[in-house]
Amino acid sequence: MKFAHFLVALVVLALASSIATAGDPSPLQDFCVAINDPKAAVFVNGKFCMDPKLATAKDFSFSGLNIPRDTGNKVGSNVTLLNVDRIPGLNTLGISLARIDYAPHGGLNPPHTHPRGTEILVVVEGTLYVGFVTSNPDNRFISKVLYPGDVFVFPIGLIHFQLNIAKTPAVAFAGLSSQNPGTITIANAVFGSDPPISPDVLAKAFQLDSKIVSYLQKQFGGNNKVNGDLSIKLSTLYFRPAMIITAGKAYTVAANIILAGLSSGIDVGEHFLVAFAFCILASSFASAYDPSPLQDFCVAINDTKSAVFVNGKFCKDPKLSVANDFFFSGLNIRRNTGNQVGSNVTLLNVDQIPGLNTLGISLVRIDYAPNGGLNPPHVHPRATEILLVLEGTLYAGFVTSNPDNRLIAKVLNRGDVFVFPFGLIHFQFNVAKTNAVAIASLSSQNPGVITIANAVFGSNPPINLDVLTRAFQLGKNEVKNLQKQFGGDNK
Ligand SMILES: *[C@@H]1O[C@H](CO)[C@@H](O)[C@H](O)[C@H]1NC(C)=O
Ligand SMILES: *[C@@H]1O[C@H](CO)[C@@H](O)[C@H](O)[C@H]1NC(C)=O
Ligand SMILES: *[C@@H]1O[C@H](CO)[C@@H](O)[C@H](O)[C@H]1NC(C)=O
Repeated sequence: MKFAHFLVALVVLALASSIATAGDPSPLQDFCVAINDPKAAVFVNGKFCMDPKLATAKDFSFSGLNIPRDTGNKVGSNVTLLNVDRIPGLNTLGISLARIDYAPHGGLNPPHTHPRGTEILVVVEGTLYVGFVTSNPDNRFISKVLYPGDVFVFPIGLIHFQLNIAKTPAVAFAGLSSQNPGTITIANAVFGSDPPISPDVLAKAFQLDSKIVSYLQKQFGGNNKVNGDLSIKLSTLYFRPAMIITAGKAYTVAANIILAGLSSGIDVGEHFLVAFAFCILASSFASAYDPSPLQDFCVAINDTKSAVFVNGKFCKDPKLSVANDFFFSGLNIRRNTGNQVGSNVTLLNVDQIPGLNTLGISLVRIDYAPNGGLNPPHVHPRATEILLVLEGTLYAGFVTSNPDNRLIAKVLNRGDVFVFPFGLIHFQFNVAKTNAVAIASLSSQNPGVITIANAVFGSNPPINLDVLTRAFQLGKNEVKNLQKQFGGDNK
């Protein structure tokens, strides 16, 4: 019996640790700023962690995303990706941000996939024709023309592209649901691999004459690759094998334990326990957090008939899904900030874009009134946020958890990017005389918001007065005043 307990505990531990390290949105600490120094560092999800006490606002920020990029190359586009390599504070936090510039008359971000990220893109300037293709056997093409303020979702791992169909340059920003989403440009991977894929394979696969294949390989440099730079190849492999080995080990350990149990005469009840623990953990792993869609997408619908229940919303029959399920329009329109705090948050989550269901990402526009417009201290219980200032000057910051409660803050100007780690209290404050606008991406389809003051002093029903006076070391009248302010006195 004791042995069986030990088995259960071991299975639980093995699986818990594989859950903890297998995907990026489970940081297990406030943050883990990436460093290159193995001394005095901890290994988590592929990068070493900096001592949290040494982390500064610089580790969570990037400057210059407002600057247009040079699109004078063969495809006529330029992608600036801010992943964990550019912002070390993104390490383990499950999100990144890209700026994409498109040349006029056909600038193309060519067909590619992100093996580890869903993408949510907002057009800031220009007109783009965009689309993605579903997986086998349907390979359905879902596409749409986008204008400024339009938003489109590209589900994890699917082949997608954007093409500038106007006479003017275009600019888009996109959030991706991984600190390191990866990119596989289809043409380059297929015809430019190193070493090259055999022309016979390609001729057969694409039903092309081998002369055309050689021509394509020449185009994409796949005909004359030497063995390349080994260090680059190793660094691209850095993440996955560790994860696979960890997960594989956990399952092997679990399987061995069950087999060992079978051959050592433990009674059936105990087997059942072990198997049960295993099943619960395996299923919680599959459905517990959003970046594990298990299918191309699961467009949310409000109809229980002929629908499947996955991660909180029913799925629409994939055959019935259309481009509009992945689309939203009007994010370019200024919002009214004439309210008490002087800010206005427009959140595009799964409720506005049903195609986001199970895909682990969402997008917001935030407008700030001049002279002190405030997005007040709040937390997102299910997401990390990466924010880009489009206009104005913001003072932004977050506070680390107990016992340090350190404020990490910075003044942000146009083109500056800042990261607010998972679940930490954060805010943005307009310190200029002009309007400010920011776009932020969040690492959940439904990140949730808890505005601290409203939750504490405006809850319904109100939190007991004694609790609040004690917690905030305030007098009863002061607490009552606060409750009046936040509507917690008459709920
Ligand atoms: C993208 O733009 C930057 C800055 O304008 C430039 O240095 C870089 O070479 C460009 N990349 C490509 C692929 O054109
Ligand atoms: C979803 O369905 C419920 C029950 O039929 C209904 O009350 C609710 O208004 C619907 N919501 C939406 C967004 O259509
Ligand atoms: C935000 O702006 C929209 C449109 O301008 C407005 O309808 C809405 O009431 C505003 N929300 C707040 C909280 O001020």
